Amino acid sequence: MRFWQLLFFDEGEFVVDADKDDEWNRGAYLATALAHCAECHTPRNFAGALNRDLWMAGTEDGPDGDTVPNITPARASGLGWSPDQLAFFLKTGTKPDWETASGTMGEAVNDSYKFLTDEDIRAISRYINTLPAIENYVGSQSY
Ligand code: HEC
Repeated sequence: MRFWQLLFFDEGEFVVDADKDDEWNRGAYLATALAHCAECHTPRNFAGALNRDLWMAGTEDGPDGDTVPNITPARASGLGWSPDQLAFFLKTGTKPDWETASGTMGEAVNDSYKFLTDEDIRAISRYINTLPAIENYVGSQSY
């Protein structure tokens, strides 16, 4: 399945979290409604719907058969990057260890995220950094 097809999946209505500030809500909105991080980074249940108990916690069964990493801030199996490191990655495809985004993530950065404004990228990075931490080991990643 290609990246652009994923953009048209319906994730329902976006609900503003009144306990959070505008930048956070903007990031949450962009990450779900526009950038669709969860379409790839969240596993699906038997019916093909996103499993909200493992929101952004990674899956071995991603698009194009990719293993998609856990990007929650979970200590052992999660991302562990600062919002600045994540923002740099979304803009350039370059990871803190100088590896480059590959597979469908490389496509997502090149076709889409690198064109976002710095402000939007900052908001998305902040939202991702405050996700509930969920320990979930996927693939053969070393932790
Ligand atoms: C079309 C599917 C897809 C979408 C959409 C997507 N990702 Fe990814 N992502 C992947 C895949 C596959 C990988 C693994 C390849 C890699 O690390 O280069 C990955 C890797 C990553 C990594 C690197 C993690 C690591 O440990 O190296 C981060 C961070 C990330 N994605 C964040 C995001 C964010 C934030 C969004 C939304 C703005 C997003 N992704 C949207 C598929 C996707």
